[in-house]
Amino acid sequence: MRKLTYYVASTIDGFIAADDGSVDFFPVGGDHGPAITAQYPETLPTKVREARGLEGGNDTFDTVLMGRKTHDFGVRTGTASPYTHLRQYVVSTTLPESPDPAIELISQDPIGKVRELKKERGLGIWLCGGGELARHLLPEVDQIFLKLYPVVLGGGRPLFGQGASVDTPRNFHVASSRVFDDGVAFVKYSRS
Ligand SMILES: NC(=O)c1ccc[n+]([C@@H]2O[C@H](COP(=O)([O-])OP(=O)(O)OC[C@H]3O[C@@H](n4cnc5c(N)ncnc54)[C@H](OP(=O)(O)O)[C@@H]3O)[C@@H](O)[C@H]2O)c1
Repeated sequence: MRKLTYYVASTIDGFIAADDGSVDFFPVGGDHGPAITAQYPETLPTKVREARGLEGGNDTFDTVLMGRKTHDFGVRTGTASPYTHLRQYVVSTTLPESPDPAIELISQDPIGKVRELKKERGLGIWLCGGGELARHLLPEVDQIFLKLYPVVLGGGRPLFGQGASVDTPRNFHVASSRVFDDGVAFVKYSRS
């Protein structure tokens, strides 16, 4: 069975973006960047991969799920189809049709769709974000790979959206962790 992994960058206080959707408060540079490129090259946008000459196949993920607001952010920054090296899905109830021929629209029952995708053969499924979609898909999240940046934002878009506390807290354990010299920590959690 394929796994759903929420692979995401977060501040110490649990925000994945500022209120306006921007993410430029996450520091770039340092020694964690090359580790991302080496371990998870498929999570880099296709344009970045091409610019860096990363032409290999996918090792970990072959499918990506994006909430509509995450996809919108890509559109605003000039990319309607950011991950053409993956099967791309956008989840939305308001988009009348898929925003790009290379993207499939999931307009209803995203949990059911994730269950279907998990039964297919292939590599892992990357839940790119954002927090609202992650909140809804939490029952199906098998792994959380947190790129934890040493930043406190004080507010913004939460890692798991907003709302009442979930009925059943989900427990995870740390499967691996690594702290870089630049202060970024990679923590991989698996569902207990
Ligand atoms: N730090 C990181 O690594 C990272 C990663 C990804 C994204 N981000 C940032 O996160 C921000 C967006 O995150 P977000 O939490 O605000 O929004 P989001 O989860 O990306 O998108 C929310 C939208 O997804 C759709 N959706 C969510 N759950 C649904 C369901 N159960 N059924 C149908 N549609 C559903 C809805 O679209 P409709 O309103 O169209 O129905 C909803 O408004 C962006 O600014 C992006 O830059 C950061």
